[in-house]
Amino acid sequence: MTPNNRANFGSKLGAILAAAGSAVGLGNIWRFPYETGEHGGAAFILVYIGCVLLFGVPIMIAEFSIGRRSRANTARAYQILAPSTPWRWVGRMGVLTGFLILGYYVVVSGWTLEFIMEAATNSFAGKSADEFIASFSQFTANPWRPIVWAVVFMLATHFIVVKGVEKGIEKSAKIMMPMLFILLLVLAGCAVALPNAGAGLEFLLKPDFSKVNGSVLLGAMGQAFFSLSIGMGCLCTYASYFKDDTNLPKTAFSVAVIDTSVAVLAGIIIFPAAFSVGIQPDMGPSLLFVTLPNVFQQAFGSLPWLAVILSVMFYILLALAALTSTISLHEVATAYLHEEFNLTRNKAAWIVTIGCTILGVFCSLSLGIGKEYTIAGLTLFDLFDFVTAKIMLPLGGFFIAIFTGWYLDKRIVWEEFSNRGTLKVGLYRLLIFLLKFIAPIGIAFIFINELGWL
Ligand code: PHE
Repeated sequence: MTPNNRANFGSKLGAILAAAGSAVGLGNIWRFPYETGEHGGAAFILVYIGCVLLFGVPIMIAEFSIGRRSRANTARAYQILAPSTPWRWVGRMGVLTGFLILGYYVVVSGWTLEFIMEAATNSFAGKSADEFIASFSQFTANPWRPIVWAVVFMLATHFIVVKGVEKGIEKSAKIMMPMLFILLLVLAGCAVALPNAGAGLEFLLKPDFSKVNGSVLLGAMGQAFFSLSIGMGCLCTYASYFKDDTNLPKTAFSVAVIDTSVAVLAGIIIFPAAFSVGIQPDMGPSLLFVTLPNVFQQAFGSLPWLAVILSVMFYILLALAALTSTISLHEVATAYLHEEFNLTRNKAAWIVTIGCTILGVFCSLSLGIGKEYTIAGLTLFDLFDFVTAKIMLPLGGFFIAIFTGWYLDKRIVWEEFSNRGTLKVGLYRLLIFLLKFIAPIGIAFIFINELGWL
């Protein structure tokens, strides 16, 4: 493929929104609160923000540079920039990581569709927190219902990906991102006004550093990679559609700020609400889904129609946020198969769709009838989450940092960071220092510390 016949994002804002659309998703609203809850609250958030700044932003700029310079899918990108070297395996590992993430991500995305239905039929009304917990675990353990939703979600992703980059991805991101943000602000306002919300805010804002251990560090690092969509070539693939005048450092920084704000905002909704109704903050992946219906119910109990409207809107926006992320995951593997194996985009997309649907079915079943089948004590669903977010993404990030910091010609790096000298990149030296030393050493330290590697 030559640069000329590949698609482009239409505008600079489009590039930021598409990347932010990939970054903002279930990672912020579903995964961030439960990881924060499991790892003790405020101190985790501070470590998380440290990981975003020290590893996340520089690695995102590095991925952007690799993608835009090579204008190819993530595996080919390394072949172009580092011909006949093993670096191409970094790209291939990224494609595999994305494939595995999509396999379980689509299951949770499917849950959002179930909740749109439940919200629309007003079935939250009159339930207690315990009843929400019971009915959610019944739903996820059901052998077919969550699977049907996952398939529906996968097909929606498929058809948008097939429609192509600009029309599908850019448009959906432009409308829903600002709407989601406003609705989150409204809900945060409602949550902090609930009785006993103060305890939740304290959990979120008052750090207890004695709680920071290896698992907190690994959790925060994994969450940063997952939430920013870095370490697997997703933003590298998107950057291959960026224009030559897209400001890469600024785009990366904007995406990190948007992404982190959405995550913290989600925390400001979930924890006050959870403490208010007595839900344990460390209950894991079901936290968002059992806590939020309480907010709608408690805050708008006297105005049921408003509760229905707001909750339906919220779950639709959540589903759309998930959709812009599943699209980006799907696109990585589709672009790879399409460009490397000479398949049509349509065929490539079908292979990804069918493969991920099969993974999704197994992941979903592992929460119900397949609960007994565990590997290292984890269900398939948890295993996929652990291996991808906490191992494969940071490992990918480690290699991307080394590739850009040490291997790639500094002239190329400078040209990409500064758009061939037309931009002033004040922090250029700092970024290179972070890529060369801080990110690789930091990631290796956290791995060794928690997983006992080496
Ligand atoms: N960042 C997305 C989210 O927060 C998930 C994702 C991970 C998307 C990796 C693409 C690549 O939901």
